[in-house]
Amino acid sequence: MNSIKSASTVGEALEQVMAALQGSEAYYGHGTDNAWDEAVQLVLWSAGLPADSDDSVLPLPLSAAQALSVAEVLRRRIEERVPLPYLTGEAWFAGLRWQCDPRAIIPRSPIAELLQAGYRPWYRGPSPSRILDLCCGGGCIGLATAWYLPDARVDLLDLDAEALALAAENAQALGLTDRVRLLQSDLFAAVPGERYDIIVSNPPYVDDADLSSMPAEYAHEPALALGSGADGLDLTRRILARAADYLQPHGLLVVEVGNSWEALEKAFPQLPFTWLEFEHGGHGVCVLSAQELRQNQSSLQE
Ligand SMILES: C[S@@+](CC[C@H](N)C(=O)[O-])C[C@H]1O[C@@H](n2cnc3c(N)ncnc32)[C@H](O)[C@@H]1O
Repeated sequence: MNSIKSASTVGEALEQVMAALQGSEAYYGHGTDNAWDEAVQLVLWSAGLPADSDDSVLPLPLSAAQALSVAEVLRRRIEERVPLPYLTGEAWFAGLRWQCDPRAIIPRSPIAELLQAGYRPWYRGPSPSRILDLCCGGGCIGLATAWYLPDARVDLLDLDAEALALAAENAQALGLTDRVRLLQSDLFAAVPGERYDIIVSNPPYVDDADLSSMPAEYAHEPALALGSGADGLDLTRRILARAADYLQPHGLLVVEVGNSWEALEKAFPQLPFTWLEFEHGGHGVCVLSAQELRQNQSSLQE
């Protein structure tokens, strides 16, 4: 680590951070998937440089304070296994910058790709005017949806008041406060009688087996955001049972269940899930139309 303090340029620091990360047990699952991308983010942030800087910054000198920042962030990343976005206070999702801290999980859902496409072609209704982000955390999915669909109003719901406070800060930073509502709610409880064109949800979905074997980085995220019962489907079962009541007849439900997708298929063999494929990776996101949900509603009751 001392060698980092002696790095005199951005390029040198990058090489040293990359080598230190590669020689460590750090796990990459919070916005990057490899040591190089993580080293780039860490060094650029410490040097106060834009996250999309190109090679021209490599020869730039690092001040003593910047070199110390690189060393300290790297130490906490490797020794305490804190995910990098919690150390820098920022994350990138759907092409936007997010304020990020342990009040909510770090944005990483593959739904980013879908919302940037306006939920097409899966959503087939008229231009969506009302959208619900259920289990919104720090707000990345619902707020990015509002950003890319400027005619839509978005409700964001979460049980956790701390997560909602972070979502409110993100809404403010993105200038979206006039088109979004943030409500503390146990699933749909706070929006009785409302009807949405699209309901999108990345609920907790980690099953007990995965929860007990997750890399140390995940222990820094709120427990309420991860586990969801023995098979990871406690919350998803409740969402499937009620979603049709909150959707327009032409509406669409989008739910992420990650690795629990096989358990979901097995639990509801009668449901015609469409599993989405993503250009930039990720899996375990399905869509169901309001019609499909309604046709199966009797078998979905909690
Ligand atoms: C996997 S995180 C997703 C956060 C955000 N949507 C994202 O993609 O980064 C799940 C969220 O569900 C919330 N949650 C857990 N149980 C809930 C419940 N019963 N009702 C509403 N939200 C709940 C947690 O507080 C957490 O913020």
